[in-house]
Amino acid sequence: MLDLYALARPLLFQLAPETAHGLSILAMKTGLMPGCKGVQNAALEQTLWGLKFPNPVGLAAGFDKNAEVIGPCFKLGFGFVEAGTVTPKAQGGNPRPRIFRCPEREAVINRMGFPNQGMQAFKANLEAFLGRKHRPAGVLGINIGMNKTQSEPVKDYAALIQMLGPMADYLTINISSPNTPGLRDLQKRGVLLEMLGELKEVRRKSCGEHPPPLLVKFAPDLDEAQQEELASAALEGGVDGLILTNTTLARPDDLPGAFAAEKGGLSGQPLTDKSTQVIHNFYALTKGQIPIIGVGGVSSGAQAYEKIKAGASLVQLYSSLVYQGPFVAQSINSELLSLLQQDGLRHIGEAVGMAHDKG
Ligand SMILES: Cc1cc2nc3c(=O)[nH]c(=O)nc-3n(C[C@H](O)[C@H](O)[C@H](O)COP(=O)(O)O)c2cc1C
Repeated sequence: MLDLYALARPLLFQLAPETAHGLSILAMKTGLMPGCKGVQNAALEQTLWGLKFPNPVGLAAGFDKNAEVIGPCFKLGFGFVEAGTVTPKAQGGNPRPRIFRCPEREAVINRMGFPNQGMQAFKANLEAFLGRKHRPAGVLGINIGMNKTQSEPVKDYAALIQMLGPMADYLTINISSPNTPGLRDLQKRGVLLEMLGELKEVRRKSCGEHPPPLLVKFAPDLDEAQQEELASAALEGGVDGLILTNTTLARPDDLPGAFAAEKGGLSGQPLTDKSTQVIHNFYALTKGQIPIIGVGGVSSGAQAYEKIKAGASLVQLYSSLVYQGPFVAQSINSELLSLLQQDGLRHIGEAVGMAHDKG
């Protein structure tokens, strides 16, 4: 099936990236996108936060912003799917074009600005998915963000937790997308601690007996002092998990000039090592006490394995879906199995944080 994608890719790449994305969503909604068996192997299964992850490869936020195609995403072999970012009110996002590809570097720049249909529509889509007789195996995350016009961010996150929290397996507080003015400023110790205090209270009141874990997603552009400050805030504030990382504002020197000049967040291969380093740092700073989901330029089993050894319990991807095609999760999982075998490990959990000196 990968060969089929190799044939289709040049045609898809003739289209504007957002048009190609829209077509993929349509194909998934109408059942035209082929599924795959996925990789089922006990060596890849993990339980985190009481949730059973059938494999460690997830679909990152931004692909299914409105929770329209969660079921078809699971059929591509992902162990978990993170829908969103959803904001309370519907909003259009930035003017198009706002997604740019760089096939030579397998990179993407986006400045979407959270276009989405708002939490009511998201909830209706989610209800349709959850109401099905047979829910596919796999964990469902919901990534929440604030509207562009909101001057009191905590109000938006609180409204989203109230409405969508009871339906989520886990929630991600997104404070790291670069395209909503002021959002990344929430990545400060005091602000984060205050927000967490309020949001945990909202979760307690609205999510019943099984409150979803609260994860926070950070940017890769934090300097070491900021990483230290945020790691200690995450421990103190009782964050359940970290998602590392979002897209970067940096532009490595070797990117083609016209592409590099586009405003927005860079993802894909140029982000791989930078995000792995951030995972490594946070794992050390938190002494491995907070589970990490590693994301940024994961395109192969070897790259996923690097992030896991750096301290990630799970990984996610988005950009490599564009370049490798719909069965990238399946091939990463098969490669991971071989890598575990090569290292004489029986279970993926044994590899988590292996790059750190445990002495
Ligand atoms: C087109 C596009 C849209 C994205 N939208 C979101 C979003 O809405 N929320 C979010 O937290 N991350 C979003 N991301 C970031 C991804 O979730 C991920 O953190 C980042 O792309 C790095 O992973 P990758 O290199 O595998 O793409 C988006 C990325 C892309 C390419």
